[in-house]
Amino acid sequence: MTIKLSRRAWIRTIIYSSLAIGGGVGYVCSKRLEVVRLDVPLRGVSKKLDGLTIGVMSDFHAGAFTTRGDITRAVRAIESEKPDLIALLGDYVDGAYSHSSRNVKKGAFIFDALKKLTAPLGVYAVMGNHDHWTDAGLVRKELTKLPLSLLDNQGVDLDHGLAVAGVDDFWEGPANTLKATRNLNPESVIVMLSHNPDVNLQMVEDDRVKLVISGHTHGGQIRIPVINQAPWIPCSWKYRGSSGLMRETEHRWTFITKGVGTFFVPVRLACPPDVGIIRLRSI
Ligand SMILES: [Fe+2]
Repeated sequence: MTIKLSRRAWIRTIIYSSLAIGGGVGYVCSKRLEVVRLDVPLRGVSKKLDGLTIGVMSDFHAGAFTTRGDITRAVRAIESEKPDLIALLGDYVDGAYSHSSRNVKKGAFIFDALKKLTAPLGVYAVMGNHDHWTDAGLVRKELTKLPLSLLDNQGVDLDHGLAVAGVDDFWEGPANTLKATRNLNPESVIVMLSHNPDVNLQMVEDDRVKLVISGHTHGGQIRIPVINQAPWIPCSWKYRGSSGLMRETEHRWTFITKGVGTFFVPVRLACPPDVGIIRLRSI
């Protein structure tokens, strides 16, 4: 028996088949974690900082599609690199404007996985917009139980003239870079942690901040092959075209990680999840 399909039925079949294949491929791609290794050349910083490494993780979105296995893989990838310092950039749990503790409890395995992280100069964390969209108080409480420092518009001076500062989320915080840096040694080279790279808008004049490390964009998460564009990225145009390292000003770089998890759909296309290993170079 031969079944005849109308033109409309053919078109519908092709669209649904393409979506199913694209979704399947995208799901597999969302599990293929990569380690992004980059050198950041910093002019005039102490030679003692040359070679210092920072491990970067962000956008776990636990409680939605990210599994415990995905997070364990990312934690192991960072651990195996033995970075001098570890930066966690927020969106630990997935929120949907619920402002409830339900999503935090659903994704609580993230906090158990992160407690294994250690680094000689410490582990530092900031909050993301999704953490605020659940129960921010409970996320903070869970983070402060871990062996890390939660930087809510705070900074800390480390050895050899290095300081790390961190701000609350740029959308939901508020983020306050002045408050985060005001107690630091004026001679310090500052690495600023901010979930959202748009925090650079607050620091146009601050040349002490040599590097901003961010997440939030997911690198677009779904990028259309060939044209390499993402349908939507939740930040200003400046950061929509890229992840990785970009020159912000003559004195500053911004590094954006694509993150570990996914948001909205469990799919990534031409945009694998990643963790970062940044190495400072004195030039
Ligand atoms: Fe995110």
